[in-house]
Amino acid sequence: MCGIIGYTGTKNSVPFLLQGLRALEYRGYDSAGVAVQINGGINTVKAKGRIDNLEEKINSSEIKTDGTCGIGHTRWATHGAPSDINSHPHRAPSLALIHNGIIENYAEIEEMLSAEGYTFVSETDTEAAAKLIDYYFVRLGDPVKAIFEATDVIRGSYAFGVIFDSYPDTIYSIRKDSPLIVASTEEGGFIASDIPAILSHTSSYYQLEEGIVAIIGKNNVSFVDRKGNESSQTRLTIDWNVEQAQKGGFPHFMIKEIHEEPEAIRKTVSTRIGEDGLPDFGIRELDIVRLSKFKNIHIVACGTAMHAGLIGKNIIEKIARVPVNVDIASEFRYRDPILSKDDLVILLSQSGETADTLAALRHAKSKGVYTLSIVNVIGSSVAREADSVLYTWAGPEISVASTKAYSVQCALLYLFAVQLARACGKLSDAFAKELCRKLTEEVPEAISKTLELSKEIKNASRHYLASEHLFFIGRGIDSALCSEASLKLKEISYIHCEAYAAGELKHGTISLITDGIPVVALMTEEFLAEKVISGIREVKSRGANVLAITTKEIAEKYAIPADKIISVPEVDEFFAPFLLATVVQLFAYHIAAGRGCDVDKPRNLAKSVTVE
Ligand code: M6R
Repeated sequence: MCGIIGYTGTKNSVPFLLQGLRALEYRGYDSAGVAVQINGGINTVKAKGRIDNLEEKINSSEIKTDGTCGIGHTRWATHGAPSDINSHPHRAPSLALIHNGIIENYAEIEEMLSAEGYTFVSETDTEAAAKLIDYYFVRLGDPVKAIFEATDVIRGSYAFGVIFDSYPDTIYSIRKDSPLIVASTEEGGFIASDIPAILSHTSSYYQLEEGIVAIIGKNNVSFVDRKGNESSQTRLTIDWNVEQAQKGGFPHFMIKEIHEEPEAIRKTVSTRIGEDGLPDFGIRELDIVRLSKFKNIHIVACGTAMHAGLIGKNIIEKIARVPVNVDIASEFRYRDPILSKDDLVILLSQSGETADTLAALRHAKSKGVYTLSIVNVIGSSVAREADSVLYTWAGPEISVASTKAYSVQCALLYLFAVQLARACGKLSDAFAKELCRKLTEEVPEAISKTLELSKEIKNASRHYLASEHLFFIGRGIDSALCSEASLKLKEISYIHCEAYAAGELKHGTISLITDGIPVVALMTEEFLAEKVISGIREVKSRGANVLAITTKEIAEKYAIPADKIISVPEVDEFFAPFLLATVVQLFAYHIAAGRGCDVDKPRNLAKSVTVE
């Protein structure tokens, strides 16, 4: 969701900006632009659509070969349609500005500035911020003071990159509720919304703290607080390389990332198992004595991460018998959830920058509840602000459709459930050890074998290329899996999907089942197999075409009345959802690729949703 890049150095800034913007494409955007300081002024080029359109325009402009300091932006439209004019950077008389986030009081600011003689050309909220900083700059004559004055007025979320006509070779930046990183390298200084934009230039960066202005020069960066004091920021190291952020021979990031699941799970889980073979999170509150004090657990997240939470609920309640409430983060803070000091709130997020998840975290903290985040991006806001954090070691996830991040979130929740079950006296150490071993060794191996089904899944997917609707059905934990299967397929293939608990169909939805409607039934739990099979019979007798995805054991033992059955390799039934997750991800991938969709960058979607 919107991408920021800025470069100041001794070289032409345009290649740095374009390369950074391309590296941020995965975040989702519908227009792009750059602004470069040239001959004591600032030149701006903006274009609706892909970065190629912008590059074409740049090539016929005067900024092509000049200008060693510039800022660039990919915009994901919120206020005003995608258009050249609404694209960033936005100009004010003294400056150009790029922005990620939403200015909530932009209308008020525009009204105030209109009275001062300012005019507005775009429909965006961002232009108000650009002109407000200009307004203070004209009065105070100092970029840092102007930025602080303006951000005192602005309500909402922002990461700003600003260059001034009269301050050459310098980029100014500040953020609130939107991520922004800063780097100083031998090639020059950078700002970016995300690591991929700077990964080929450096392996270390600063995650800019809120309320601090970063001043990025050619050779150095400095940070200043509201009082004008120098602020020290923590330098972080990027623990993945350019190769990991490339497709590595796969046609799309999504399929590459699905293939990384075994290793991601192994890495995430094995680092949390102690020498005694039992879970060890290295967090005081998660040790066996303290963990039992939590009476209720709330898992809060968005999208796929929330679906991982549903899997977590099933497993935690099954083996630890502690009640778990799963909340959509965007609803959590507004429904005034009942929270007590004995509760634990777990925030799940791949990016750690999802605005709703961050707001939910802050809400929980404001109620004095202990918060634990499970996050993939080191140093991200959700990771930093929670009372404690467990990182998932999935490595960079570039595809908008989340796959390996989901699997590792589920894996950590399984491990957490084992620890909680021990703490609650529901699981012997011997059994817990056995589950930990299976999770670290057998699950990754079985997923690797499941990946070998890719060709069979691709063949099966041909049947669905022209489908307009599809239903996923399952019971128990599989109904949670259905939600994720359905989200995966609809976000990348644009096929309308519904996820239903199989027993719920006859309470209304079955009226949608007609001749040839595809239904995919997921079955991992043997004690529910016959129930799902009767659901299959119900839809079959109304003409549905049924694909069953199940375990080897169930496929061998039951006569499943489906048109096609895909069975996953042998694994303990308790862990079978991991294998089915891989199958439904491959299923969605092959259908979307077969339909010619832009698999890694589905329309209208952003990788990291940093606005409410
Ligand atoms: O970065 P997060 O895990 O917080 O993101 C949450 C959702 O936006 C994300 O999972 C989204 O649903 C994905 N596009 C799903 O594939």
